[in-house]
Amino acid sequence: MIRSLVAGVGAYLPARVVDNDALASRLDTSDAWIRERTGITRRHIAADDELTSDLAVEAARRALERAGAKPAAVEAIVLATSTPDHTFPATATAVQRKLGAPIGIALDVQAVCAGFAYGLAVADSLLRLGHARTALVIGAETFSRLLDWNDRSTAVLFGDGAGALLLRADRQGGTLADRGLLATKLAADGRHYGDLWVDGGPSATRSTGHLRMNGREVFRHAVARLAESVLAVLGETGLSVDDLDLLVPHQANLRIIEAVAKRLGVPAEKTVVTVDRHANTSAASIPLALDVAANDGRLVAGRLVAVNALGGGFAWGATLLRW
Ligand code: UT7
Repeated sequence: MIRSLVAGVGAYLPARVVDNDALASRLDTSDAWIRERTGITRRHIAADDELTSDLAVEAARRALERAGAKPAAVEAIVLATSTPDHTFPATATAVQRKLGAPIGIALDVQAVCAGFAYGLAVADSLLRLGHARTALVIGAETFSRLLDWNDRSTAVLFGDGAGALLLRADRQGGTLADRGLLATKLAADGRHYGDLWVDGGPSATRSTGHLRMNGREVFRHAVARLAESVLAVLGETGLSVDDLDLLVPHQANLRIIEAVAKRLGVPAEKTVVTVDRHANTSAASIPLALDVAANDGRLVAGRLVAVNALGGGFAWGATLLRW
């Protein structure tokens, strides 16, 4: 039996930091409103010449370094993003080229904020089916390019960044106590297509468009679906919430994170929060949060971790893994 092991994690945030006061100086909003309603205090915004692939490559390099691996070992690149460099080819192929990775599998996964959970599942399947022995799973976004900077209801919520995991196919072990990806739950409900979307695109409008959102509807569904999906992956393995060492939720809103943790009964000290510093980085938020937890010592080998995310579509999912 093959299992996908996490060999390394890495992340990258653009140098430019924009705090709430900077936004309040040009929009009808305030630091107090943004903090109270979202928990966000600042976000990183990519430089004009920085592309999603640049952020992704930097995160990937750091994940490889952590794993003690070279780009030559990368046999598959799965990039979760909704902000590709170009409509095509897949930004994963730009990452492959910039990284100097050899000929192999490279594709983008588009599930918006749930992209990293979907990307993990794709990479895990590639490894377990024997298509590759090493896969980079990257979440990288430049949402700043999709925002309507005159719309206070969305402009304050998002940031840019990237995070990456290097996964390795492993034939050792196969029990719940062994390391690796243990269970995945993915779902989508296209009836909510219009609740969180971009009003442009090559087929519909021949333009890029801007992000539009029915925030309250997203909030309501997020809390229910995110909690359910964690229970589903735990249920599949027979493990319980008490067995969890760490919950690493998608970072959209502190109120959503706290509501999900409360619903599940996961205490605050087991819940990783980065939304205050990173804002919502869509598909990048989970690997960015994993990187923070690895750096501050909360994430060490053997820990049981659940990640979950919901975004446009709606698409959502959760993964249970032993780090
Ligand atoms: O990754 C998934 C992506 N998205 C999400 O997860 C977002 C989920 N939703 C949310 O996080 C929240 O719904 C928001 C943060 C977007 C909004 O918070 P809310 O508590 O649901 O506020 P609301 O939309 O009900 O708006 C309350 C008021 C409104 O004014 P009125 O109608 O009560 O007079 C808004 O116009 O707040 C106003 N408002 C703002 N005021 C100051 C909306 N945005 C702002 C703002 N600054 N930036």
